[in-house]
Amino acid sequence: MNTLINKRILLGISGGIAAYKSCYLVRDLIEQGAEVEVVMSRGSTKFVTPLTFQALSGRPVHSRLLDHDAESGMGHISLARWADLIVIAPATAHMIAKLAHGMADDLLTTLCLASDSTVMVVPAMNRQMWENPATQENVDRLKGFGMVFIGPDVGEQACGETGAGRMVEPAEIRQLINDHFSSSILTGRHVLITAGPTREPIDPVRYISNHSSGRMGYAVAQAAIEADAKVTLISGPVSIKPPDRAHYVPVATAAEMQIEVSKLIETTDIFISAAAVADYRCIDVSDQKIKKSNENIELQLEKNPDIIASVTASVHKPFTVGFAAETNDVSENAKIKLRSKAMDMIAANPVGPGIGFESDLNTLDIYWEDGHIDLGTATKHKLARNLIKLIANRYHEKNTG
Ligand code: PMT
Repeated sequence: MNTLINKRILLGISGGIAAYKSCYLVRDLIEQGAEVEVVMSRGSTKFVTPLTFQALSGRPVHSRLLDHDAESGMGHISLARWADLIVIAPATAHMIAKLAHGMADDLLTTLCLASDSTVMVVPAMNRQMWENPATQENVDRLKGFGMVFIGPDVGEQACGETGAGRMVEPAEIRQLINDHFSSSILTGRHVLITAGPTREPIDPVRYISNHSSGRMGYAVAQAAIEADAKVTLISGPVSIKPPDRAHYVPVATAAEMQIEVSKLIETTDIFISAAAVADYRCIDVSDQKIKKSNENIELQLEKNPDIIASVTASVHKPFTVGFAAETNDVSENAKIKLRSKAMDMIAANPVGPGIGFESDLNTLDIYWEDGHIDLGTATKHKLARNLIKLIANRYHEKNTG
């Protein structure tokens, strides 16, 4: 099974003989469905050529900070934002020392400072260098910053000595990366998610709709699956593929979406409404294509049912999370919706041309009755994972009193 689909891994390579093992790591990660961007330190290019990593990852390799061409493509800040996870393998004593002191004198160290993603460090060096108190102090410092260390292994080393300092094997690193992306915070919970737009027909060939691509809701569904929830995804018409393990229910109109939601609400623990539901529908849907004989036509619209409000009003009210798509006064409007629709939590996102809708990136601010957290701007997948963690925390808090 491809367990790393939609995962963006930035693999940093520093200059040691173990760099050759990272070729196998790239191949493994790609086979598991991950997207991999390789960043090489100058020293590492003496051990393995960038061309090798380019061929394995299928992407250009990054090695220079403030490189004109690179900055006009994916610059260092975009790369830092792009990464769901940064893995530095091999990490030399020098690289560890630079990270421990917040240095930013090359692309890889700069990225680590500019990213809020987890950094996994896979050391590889001579036994004596690893055991040196300076290295050990640097390692403790980095662990204190939240970096995760993998290894080193103990055994025979390239320098002929035996001891701790060998780079952990690629298969084990890959397994730990898999573990990083999965959890059991929602084991045994049924999470119902709506996503995408609704289409409200005008006549047999025309409809009222909006720009929702479904990407945000589908990313939330994927993140809930990775948190071990049973997931049902009710979706308006979109062109993306639903996550493999979601129970998928396609719908077109708001009325159809409401019917499908109401069928499942009794068995739902957490309801997440990411769909951009059309607020209005035509009162009279023409059964024939409307002819363009008149200069002007009038469409009479009526309000659609408010799905989320009907969920929070039900006797089986699950933990309910809405989204607020706003073009202005984002936080004020979101807080009003949170209260007026009696939700447990709301994710507010600014929308407009190229923002929120359709894009791979989004900006989310989360509000609940007495709290708020800014998840910032990131990929929808990364935001979805952070949102699911937050929802699981609040859900468990609420249900354990
Ligand atoms: O699909 P993408 O291209 O990835 O874009 C993602 C998104 C911008 C669509 C998504 O992040 C988002 O904001 N979804 C909610 C959009 C919306 O309808 O917001 P709203 O402020 O109009 O509605 C507030 C809440 O009420 C939403 O949770 C909505 O699903 C729900 N609602 C709205 C109307 C209605 N009749 N019934 C509802 O349940």
